[in-house]
Amino acid sequence: MKKPFVAGNWKMNTDSNSSVELGKCIASASLEAAGHDVTVAVCPPFVYLQAVARALSASSVAVGAQDIYYEPKGAFTGEISASMLKDIGCTYCLCGHSERRHVIGETDELINKKVAAGIGGGLLPILCVGELRAEREASQTNEVVTRQMKNGLAGLSAEKVSAVTIAYEPVWAIGTGLTATPQQAQEVHDFIRKLLGQMYDGRLAEEIRILYGGSVKPDNAADLMGQRDIDGALVGGASLKADDFLAIIQAAV
Ligand code: 13P
Repeated sequence: MKKPFVAGNWKMNTDSNSSVELGKCIASASLEAAGHDVTVAVCPPFVYLQAVARALSASSVAVGAQDIYYEPKGAFTGEISASMLKDIGCTYCLCGHSERRHVIGETDELINKKVAAGIGGGLLPILCVGELRAEREASQTNEVVTRQMKNGLAGLSAEKVSAVTIAYEPVWAIGTGLTATPQQAQEVHDFIRKLLGQMYDGRLAEEIRILYGGSVKPDNAADLMGQRDIDGALVGGASLKADDFLAIIQAAV
């Protein structure tokens, strides 16, 4: 049985005090009770990562970055490498979040380099995939997800890919209050798992955790995570409220 995984993506929110406070509230007694049965991570903005990582170092809550750059070091103004993230206590890194794809303009090729660099640097990448509303309406969901998965994982061996978590985040459900129904989400998760089986092998496909993201809240988390192929959640807005995030973690157990 896979351990469920709940990660909070704080996006461009919090400040130096509230980030550490939020981290500490999440690493509370109620989480410690659930901490053996569920993997929990938070992804603060880069500037607060080290402070949050320090505050959580004795807890079961891991810390992830919202992005990385693929070069190890050098003249890349404004960028952050995998080794820097590792150095300050990061475990995970998001790669290809829809806001980076569609607001910043990241390509599958760039995202693939980031996933590879994350694994190479000892991080555990969370590769985000998902279709736009127009793509769903044009029945292109499977095609889009296939392209993002194949390009995002291009050139990586099964062994390397075993370090990756997939997050299915339909773009039309992110920050909109619209959630994919558990059935809609399960359909795509099942598709992604079968795709991984074709790309690698059935064992790897079963072992990889596939998270759902897109307006996950305390009141829909249990139904979503109760689906066969939904192994956890990548939570945006609701991860900024400790009580809501803890309720979602409890729903995963
Ligand atoms: P919301 O939960 O705010 O919809 O955001 C989802 C998300 O983008 C997590 O990465």
